[in-house]
Amino acid sequence: MRARWTSILAAALLSVPVVASGAGPVRAPATSDPVVEELLARMTLAEKAAQMMQVDLGRLMGDEAWDRGPLDDRWVRRVVVEQAVGSVLSGGDAAPVPAGPAGWARTVAGLQRHAVEGTRLGIPLVYGVDAVHGHAAVVGATVYPHQLGLAATWDPALVEEVAAATARDVRATGVHWTFAPVADLGVDPRWGRYYETFGEDPALASELVAASVRGLQGPSLDDPGAVAATLKHFVGYPAGAGGRDRHPAVLTARELWDRHLPPFRAGIDAGAATVMVDSGAVDGVPVHASYTLLTDVLRGELGFAGVVVSDWHDVHKLAEVHRVEPDLRHAVERAVLAGVDLVMVPYDSEETADELVALVHAGRVPEARVDEAVRRILELKRSLGLLPDPPPPPDPEEARRVVEQGDRALAERAATASLTLLVNDGVLPLAGEVGTIAVAGPAADDPAMQLGGWTLGWQGLAPGGEVPPATTVLQGLREAPPGGARIVSLPSDATPGRVRRVARRADVVVVVLGERPYAEMEGDRTRPELPPAQQELVRELAASGTPLVLVLLAGRPLVLPEDVVEAASALLMAYLPGSQAGTAVAAVLAGDADPGGRLPCSWPRDVGQLPLRYDHLPVDEPPRPRFAFGDGLSYTSFAVRPGHAEVRDDRIVVPVEVSNRGGRAGEHVVQAYATHRTSPAMRPVRRLVAFHRVSLAAGESATVRLELPIDRLGQVPGDVFSLQPPRVEPGRHEIAIGEHLVAVEVPAGSSAR
Ligand code: BGC
Ligand code: BGC
Repeated sequence: MRARWTSILAAALLSVPVVASGAGPVRAPATSDPVVEELLARMTLAEKAAQMMQVDLGRLMGDEAWDRGPLDDRWVRRVVVEQAVGSVLSGGDAAPVPAGPAGWARTVAGLQRHAVEGTRLGIPLVYGVDAVHGHAAVVGATVYPHQLGLAATWDPALVEEVAAATARDVRATGVHWTFAPVADLGVDPRWGRYYETFGEDPALASELVAASVRGLQGPSLDDPGAVAATLKHFVGYPAGAGGRDRHPAVLTARELWDRHLPPFRAGIDAGAATVMVDSGAVDGVPVHASYTLLTDVLRGELGFAGVVVSDWHDVHKLAEVHRVEPDLRHAVERAVLAGVDLVMVPYDSEETADELVALVHAGRVPEARVDEAVRRILELKRSLGLLPDPPPPPDPEEARRVVEQGDRALAERAATASLTLLVNDGVLPLAGEVGTIAVAGPAADDPAMQLGGWTLGWQGLAPGGEVPPATTVLQGLREAPPGGARIVSLPSDATPGRVRRVARRADVVVVVLGERPYAEMEGDRTRPELPPAQQELVRELAASGTPLVLVLLAGRPLVLPEDVVEAASALLMAYLPGSQAGTAVAAVLAGDADPGGRLPCSWPRDVGQLPLRYDHLPVDEPPRPRFAFGDGLSYTSFAVRPGHAEVRDDRIVVPVEVSNRGGRAGEHVVQAYATHRTSPAMRPVRRLVAFHRVSLAAGESATVRLELPIDRLGQVPGDVFSLQPPRVEPGRHEIAIGEHLVAVEVPAGSSAR
């Protein structure tokens, strides 16, 4: 059965020869640069194997995995000089010590000097970091909203700007590569990495992934403000059963093609230099061991030509956790043959490289496959400007200047654009004479909660540790009090009696709620709900009868009890907004900015509804979310009027007239959804195909051009367990824009790629 499927897959979707899983042919390199070829020709097998190893900076700090501090000369000598590994990363908890911009620059420069001057061939290291919301592992850096908040902006140009600003900071410290953007969908808010995604929709995620890649990689990778991007985690990672991190995915082939591959395809088409492998498994096969996914699909179908990097310790895990191989040697064989080019070891690089050398000697891994991987790694280094001549080392003073200057204004714009107003009985904006605003809640004045995970530490800010530049909501309101209000802060240890008294005397209460920071599996929750103590606080405040404005700083749509929602006169979702949370929230509460964010995810009413998504297949009783994907209120009102849809080559273009009908400036996101049509296999009732954010003055109108690739209308054809790629059925399709339905006639032969 499996063999038959493999050949169906190969024959149906790949323009490459049919190969048995795990033993495929070595593919020809996409480019074969003379600098790279010459270097490769001079490398010994051991040097090549070492080039395929990436170690964590923690490895270079001491004997134990958890040692942290200055670099340990013995380990630097052993790993960087004697072994000559190809790459170093700073994992979430492995920033250089000290972790200011100058410390980063000095550390990277020092290691680079060892690699260039101390090794036989002098090949520079490529250094990677998780700069997933700004260069947030650096003390003093501006922190931008996490991806979920950026997705709520529905603004690719803004996402591109944030990525470019991040790249500038990263490169200033001498680092060449960021493990971003996350191209995984937000499938289940129980998952601890939900906030790292661009939300639940493939089209929204695709546009924003492509925008991040453009912003990070700039006009060319050797540009002083550019870094290599990584599309992660290929593929199926967010579909772990029960929303658990690194649990085998519950995923059909149809969903893989329809939903999970498009954001990766978009990032590859935008030129992403690297792809990181999913730590989980799809259909019972760990992705690190899957030739079908890493080679047939990624290389063959999606045309990816760059470096495939493993995730953290995941080659080892094929033996240690997944038990698809008996030991490290077999695990290395399986992963390298499946398509892993660079192994994020991240500790025992000597042992891992030795296994690879032994495998080549034993004829179990062809040296040509090793050459292919090394060629890709050297090609990455060449495109980054590290070869043939290493660039001058980063200047610590310049790193400090660039990073500390940051771009607070951009962080504020991004945070403001993400704010999503979900309930408003008219209390907002807080204009005119407001009187007194009481500010309450554990997230009102706690930078850790607005910054989230991957900020100066894997799990976010450590209690009592360093704090990046951050304006909390309380500070923001104090600096710019809406309507000139008096701001009274309610400390989190206030007694219930005091809470009620202060609330009763105020004209409005702003209560800021949310989650403590987390990352990866440590953030998995079986019940992603507003914590009980925070629910109680809302009830106490509500008993005062004073209007309540709820502001949520959270990495996921938290399930809210009915009475909490009813108690809110207004509810503003702020996601994990980063450094400028306070200025952004204050501006929106005051009405100085329109809340232009729209939900990039479905908001569940109850944990039992999970997983929940708006683009479900047709059913009798569709699930009812608390707030729907795409929702968000403005302070003004808009009307849209679409024109005729036209098919131009592989794209569909629809002009839409948008008018601001209200009395103040505002932000609108025009959203276009393909609606269900009769088809042999069920199609989602609605599926986003295009969107455009527009900002209009009171009474102003503008025509926006919605443009979508025709393959957004595609669907996987065939009977159950179909492994065919999506295809666009010719004939009439309908696209819903606001209240209107626009018909599109798709000519025969305009099939999806
Ligand atoms: C590292 C992270 C890594 C995680 C994986 C942590 O110790 O700092 O970068 O993602 O381990 O388990
Ligand atoms: C995470 C990756 C991350 C890597 C390095 C892993 O645990 O899954 O997303 O890039 O660690 O920190």
